[in-house]
Amino acid sequence: MNDKIQIKNALKESAIAILQKNDRGGYTVPTDGLYPFQWNWDAAITALGWATFDRKRAWEEIDYLLKGQWKNGMVPHILFHQPSDSYFPNADVWNVSDAVRGEVRSTSISQPPVLASVVKRLLEQKPDDAQERQRVAAYLPKLLAYHLWWYRDRDPENTGLVVSYHPWESGMDNSPAWDEALAAVPPVTWAYQRRDTQHVDSSERPKQAEYDRYLYLVDFFIKQDFDARRIYDNCPFKVQDMGIISILHRASKDLLTVCELLGVQNEHTQQLVEEIARTEKAIQQLWSEPHQSFLTKNVMTDSFCEVQTTGTLLALFAGLANADQAQKMSALLDDWLAASDYGVASTYPKHPTYEPQRYWRGPVWLHINWMIAEGLKDYQLTAQHQQVVNASKALIEKVGYWEYFNADTGEGCGGDVFSWTAAISLYWLLDD
Ligand code: GLC
Repeated sequence: MNDKIQIKNALKESAIAILQKNDRGGYTVPTDGLYPFQWNWDAAITALGWATFDRKRAWEEIDYLLKGQWKNGMVPHILFHQPSDSYFPNADVWNVSDAVRGEVRSTSISQPPVLASVVKRLLEQKPDDAQERQRVAAYLPKLLAYHLWWYRDRDPENTGLVVSYHPWESGMDNSPAWDEALAAVPPVTWAYQRRDTQHVDSSERPKQAEYDRYLYLVDFFIKQDFDARRIYDNCPFKVQDMGIISILHRASKDLLTVCELLGVQNEHTQQLVEEIARTEKAIQQLWSEPHQSFLTKNVMTDSFCEVQTTGTLLALFAGLANADQAQKMSALLDDWLAASDYGVASTYPKHPTYEPQRYWRGPVWLHINWMIAEGLKDYQLTAQHQQVVNASKALIEKVGYWEYFNADTGEGCGGDVFSWTAAISLYWLLDD
């Protein structure tokens, strides 16, 4: 056996071992201790990894995630399947009322809805398997309800651009895109003890002032009785996040494809077609010519969050950039990629807020590398696509499956033996 195959097999084995280690029977924790529950977009990405060696387990991951779906259609960001005191804030702090929630206790916000894109990929791997088709058919009403929830509750004025109410909802918790918007949120006034900094060095985590505001918002949702309209009207943090908008858009198109493959057409699919068209028109409002990029908007001040992040690059994954914009973004990306040998740093490295080791302010995240690579492939930006693939492979060969990676040095950061890093490697970099 040559060396390359040997290295690949060893990487596969250790990635599989990570998913098995983090398996809690039906759902997978991102990593033990630091994140002891099921997270929304982690679960979707993790299912892709499971599917490379255990399809039944991949579908189960999705079954478990959908158990948490709220009555209004929202799929929450964290599902507290079992109690654990290694994470803060827990289910009691989120205090979601039984009247609104699904089968499992949860948080009161969502996360980037990549799930339908994952379901499409799984279905396309075995398009003729009757049992799997049946399974996906059963998901369809739930996935449609989830997507229509975004458009209805998060865009009640039909602007074509959904809003988000919490940095945690973006999945990119302490991105510099939120700095200004979050500074306008009051801090929480009660004392609390963070758990994250007991697992990970504080230089790699969000700061206290940010946590104070994250928690203020958690309380705010409770005080509004989780009522969609009240929150929309009064929430002190409201952004049109390019990351969420892009992932939602791509997933909505993928969901329509799944519906077509299964011969499903009804008023919900029709509505989805209309929502997709609305976003395609509206997205031009988020293009900034001086930045050669789309940007996230702070709705509270009607101004751009003036920093290019990987969230803004996801317009390529969504197919939302026109040909001219894609060229401009590609030129920007050349510059961006020159700064790191490991793929796409989460913040544009020439921006003053860039910090190569701090969570979403600079580090490379492997599942984001994947999404951007998919976008580059779609736009036939072949050389950049290959560059991101090669950098990602080099990264896991060098350091393995960390939560995220220092963009300057490639060093593993945050939690070790991390599910979505292992899973996306299995699916994207290691599958034959
Ligand atoms: C952090 C990340 C978020 C992820 C979660 C679990 O909160 O910012 O994106 O879903 O950890 O891995």
